[in-house]
Amino acid sequence: PFVPVILAGGKGERFWPLSRKDKPKQFLCLDGSGKSLLQATAERLLPLCNGWSGVWVVTSVQLAAQVKNQLPQLPESNLLLEPEGKDTAPAVTWATIEIAKRYGEEAVIGFFPADHWIGDETGFQQTLQAASEFAATHAAIVTLGIAPGYPAVGYGYIQQGEAVATSGNNLPIYKVERFREKPDRDTATEFLETKTVDGNCPYTWNSGMFIFRTQVVLEELAIHASEILQPLQAQGVAAYPSLAKKSIDYALMEKTQLAYVLPANFGWDDLGDWNALERLFQGETVNVELAQHVNLDTTGAILYASDDQDVIVTIGLEDVIVVRDRHVTLIVKKDRTQEIKQVLKTLQDDP
Ligand code: GDD
Ligand code: MG
Repeated sequence: PFVPVILAGGKGERFWPLSRKDKPKQFLCLDGSGKSLLQATAERLLPLCNGWSGVWVVTSVQLAAQVKNQLPQLPESNLLLEPEGKDTAPAVTWATIEIAKRYGEEAVIGFFPADHWIGDETGFQQTLQAASEFAATHAAIVTLGIAPGYPAVGYGYIQQGEAVATSGNNLPIYKVERFREKPDRDTATEFLETKTVDGNCPYTWNSGMFIFRTQVVLEELAIHASEILQPLQAQGVAAYPSLAKKSIDYALMEKTQLAYVLPANFGWDDLGDWNALERLFQGETVNVELAQHVNLDTTGAILYASDDQDVIVTIGLEDVIVVRDRHVTLIVKKDRTQEIKQVLKTLQDDP
């Protein structure tokens, strides 16, 4: 079978103050569709598996009630609860162990972040079909590569090597030459300026989705991340307190020789931080639920107020983000949203 697993235990800190500890980003509706990011993620996966009985979710104990509330059809036995978030490497490893127990070592798993926007759902499903067919028949960890728009520092970069196959849908699949998680600005710029002999840039952004057979990844984890795999195999979820925080990108993807990439053309956005709202609403500068914006000579602002009584007045500003939500006001320049995470560490408790 194809078993989709949604990773839904993140904190979504770069979307603070709308995204808070008790209700992080994946539970919010950001695009006006009426569905939360988690609900939209689950629904677009249903056609790829056996309906709700085939979908799995990994999240933390603290967020369990919200997952159940938003996904009432998800079987309780498909919900894996981590006592605390240790980033994605433990979540992926534990889920893979449990799914291998339930469906066997030949089962193909797909891991999906809970916080993405996908433009063309049919294209998404076709690409996944191709990825899962390839993973079923090869010792491969298949990634989906997104054509990069700018030297982003918040993404993984995939350098594609030789084309190895054409999938059923005529999509080319490439061997990954190198996977590099979150490079600095200079390195990212260098990557995007690189050209192969045919004049193309060999780098794509990592979409954060991974498709593989359980057996393949269990063997790879044994080689590259046994400090995570062994305790989880021996003690199950009881091993969590002893595990270090690490993402699967650093723990496995930067190290494995079995990575492949399928270029994805289905319209993708990691709703990573407030700047994403502007892309989602295609350049409209004033966004979402705002009761009233009084504007004098302000350009390129992203404004959000969660109370429909709120009024925001801006005079002579450029490229700022202003957010008002539950007693917090955030004002940040658009190019410094990555630093929200740092500031949150200095706040006593998440107000
Ligand atoms: N269960 C669980 N436990 N889920 C988690 C945890 C955890 O401890 N930490 C994060 N997640 C979930 C998040 O909710 C999100 O859905 C997904 O895992 C990815 O985590 P992020 O924290 O959003 O990762 P990122 O955006 O910094 O980087 C990843 O995604 C990028 C694309 O969006 C990497 O895979 C990058 O390489 C990639 O480019
Ligand atoms: Mg993310």
